Amino acid sequence: MKVVCFDALGTLIDITHVTSAVEKRFPGLGEEISTLWRTKHIDYSRLRAMSGEYVPFDQITRDALEASLMHCHVPYTESDLTELMTDYQHGVTFPEVDSVLAALDVPWSILTNGNRPFIRVILDHAKVNCPDSHLLTSDRVETFKISPALYELAWQWAQELGASAKVEVIFVSGNQWDAIGATWFGFTTFWVNRNGHSPEVLGVRPDYESETLEHLLSVIRGL
Ligand code: LAC
Repeated sequence: MKVVCFDALGTLIDITHVTSAVEKRFPGLGEEISTLWRTKHIDYSRLRAMSGEYVPFDQITRDALEASLMHCHVPYTESDLTELMTDYQHGVTFPEVDSVLAALDVPWSILTNGNRPFIRVILDHAKVNCPDSHLLTSDRVETFKISPALYELAWQWAQELGASAKVEVIFVSGNQWDAIGATWFGFTTFWVNRNGHSPEVLGVRPDYESETLEHLLSVIRGL
């Protein structure tokens, strides 16, 4: 028995396009602002998860953008924020994603920090066909990964499909911290290390690591 659970952003959906969207609006600052945006975004999700001060993920995304613009002393308007948020939702899938999803012969779901309405727009735009019952979102538990409450959603989903041990769930993420969180939770983990990052020293490593998702198919088939 095996089921697969994917992270969304940076795993199935490439969100690096925001760099050029930011660059277009704030010439010369695309790289700096978008890097800060990503970092603050993750920081804010962790701070809010740790404190219990939940707000939906789209709000965190917008707040992190605003904080990044303030950090860079760039004048901005409400419509800059609104329009960049729309740009953020216009990512595409990584090149191999569609064929890997089509070739999967086991049930799969998506577990994301995104709140449902926000991530639904992103998935629809990228043409990732994930039914509502297989889309597991942070708004159900009002916290964020790597809180176990999120991985628990995936575990419940897997059990409903007949899984009897956490290792039967292969959790796939392009974010090393997420793959580590899922490893701590007890899932089998697959880190899509697309950018050749070095391993973190946290006393644990994801079970599998690969530059793309393609290798996932042989892992599932036990090769
Ligand atoms: C997600 C982010 C963390 O989709 O990648 O959950």
